[in-house]
Amino acid sequence: MNTILLLFGGKSSEYEVSLSSATGAYQNIDRRKYRVLLCGITRDEGRFWLYEDDPAKIADGTWTDGRKYPLSVDLSDGTLSVDRDGVTEHIRPDAVLPMIHGKFCEDGTLQGLFAVAGIPVVGCGCQASAVCMDKAVTKAIVTAETGVRTARGIVAKCAGAPDAALIEATRREAEEAFGYPMFVKPARAGSSVGVNKVKKPEDFARALTLAFAEDTKVLVEEAINGREIEVAVLEEGGVCTVAHPAEIDCGSSEFYDYETKYISDASSFYIPARLTEAEQDEVRGYAEAIFRALDCGGLARVDFFYTRGEGEFVFNEINTLPGFTPISMYPKMMINDGIVYGALLDRLIESAVGKARA
Ligand SMILES: Nc1ncnc2c1ncn2[C@@H]1O[C@H](COP(=O)(O)OP(=O)(O)OP(=O)(O)O)[C@@H](O)[C@H]1O
Ligand SMILES: [Mg+2]
Repeated sequence: MNTILLLFGGKSSEYEVSLSSATGAYQNIDRRKYRVLLCGITRDEGRFWLYEDDPAKIADGTWTDGRKYPLSVDLSDGTLSVDRDGVTEHIRPDAVLPMIHGKFCEDGTLQGLFAVAGIPVVGCGCQASAVCMDKAVTKAIVTAETGVRTARGIVAKCAGAPDAALIEATRREAEEAFGYPMFVKPARAGSSVGVNKVKKPEDFARALTLAFAEDTKVLVEEAINGREIEVAVLEEGGVCTVAHPAEIDCGSSEFYDYETKYISDASSFYIPARLTEAEQDEVRGYAEAIFRALDCGGLARVDFFYTRGEGEFVFNEINTLPGFTPISMYPKMMINDGIVYGALLDRLIESAVGKARA
């Protein structure tokens, strides 16, 4: 029986999303086939704990009060050390299932840590994770390697809050390059945290300051007037299964912001997307080309706009650890194509474990 370390939580703004993803995974993983160890990472301090209490306490965040033991990764021999009241136990997991999102979770740092320890991780490796976390770097590679259109954009960098000179210079550069409306967003964040649409010059400073609160690198992009299309890619042994795309309709909301994603019921979705078969195949082809160009592995959700004017696909971003609750878009697209949630988890884990054996 393989031992799987299921990670949840994380020192990231997407902590709560992770609790839902991990709960979905725990409930659906085949526990006759896998021994599942739960590892919670606290939001504030990023501490790793082996959690041995009621899994139902993960979803609402009360797991932090439950029975748990400090866990550390031994980089030299690929084991995990668990300190149970002074007695150290060594565990060697066959794979790590990271049901965590965002900074320190999805950005290659954790993938690198486990790679050094020689423990396989489900999904993309260190390099692809790091590249895909940065929207500016990702776009540069996608443009160079695939020719798929991306939104015109500029990059600004600054540690801390931007001063008046930087705000003014960035605003002018963006106005000259493409003008309003524009999107201001952190280069390396997620769940739309710090993302704002700017329609007039007076609103630019606030948007830039909010984006810099999330990251030291910010992207200002032309606003694409299009429908939001997402494509799920599953890779096993070099073979990609590319699901039929999904479409998100943000309803009355101006764009797909945090509120629309997780709180309000303004949005609706269509699976498959309201596209012809030929259009669906076109975007599925782009998704696989992008996945391969970025050297992704295991899984990723590739997001596009389908423009209202020309009817053209514009690549927006890629998520290497997309939301993974049973009602998240990635699993839903796979379910629509006949790969049920439990089977999807099984295939992802098997291919990570298989890589270690190979
Ligand atoms: N250039 C753009 N043109 C039009 N809309 C945009 C643009 N950039 C971002 N948006 C809107 O903002 C949303 C969030 O932006 P984006 O997907 O880049 O960030 P995110 O925080 O990484 O989200 P995710 O949780 O998918 O990782 C998009 O889904 C879209 O609605
Ligand atoms: Mg997005």
